[in-house]
Amino acid sequence: MKKDIENKKDIEKLVNGFYEKVKQDALIGFIFTDVVKVHWEKHLPVMYDFWENSLFYTGNYVGNPMQIHQHLHRLVPLTAEYFARWTYLFTSTVDELFVGEKAALAKQRAMSIAAVMQFKIIPSPSLTVN
Ligand code: HEM
Repeated sequence: MKKDIENKKDIEKLVNGFYEKVKQDALIGFIFTDVVKVHWEKHLPVMYDFWENSLFYTGNYVGNPMQIHQHLHRLVPLTAEYFARWTYLFTSTVDELFVGEKAALAKQRAMSIAAVMQFKIIPSPSLTVN
């Protein structure tokens, strides 16, 4: 029986499961393995803190994801398709492992941050104010 995301152990399980999928993904995996060559032993604990803060308001994540992805966008243009895949992988990992209020919140947070990030990063000509 699936349960809700309740503690740090659950967050670790979610984040580890998500990045296992990401690394193997045919569309976005290369960004993590080839473009950035992520140091997982550093990145994973940052992501545990990020998600723990997002779901349990622990205040233990300090960082600027928007700026980091703006920079990443200069190394590899981040497309709407990439964001859609990232979001799909994240929400499907949540659904495979957990069910409940925090699980729903995690998916909602991921989707809204992805939308804001995409909006800030990808120029949308129809919305550009001259
Ligand atoms: C196309 C979609 C995305 C791609 C390709 C992507 C890729 C990456 C990469 C390569 C890093 C750097 C890892 C490192 O330097 O060790 C990173 C960091 C991070 N990403 Fe993403 N990301 C995406 C979307 C998102 C979204 C939607 C969120 C939020 C829900 C997010 C949250 C973060 C956070 C919190 C960090 C760590 C920032 C820090 O070091 O403080 N990412 N991402």
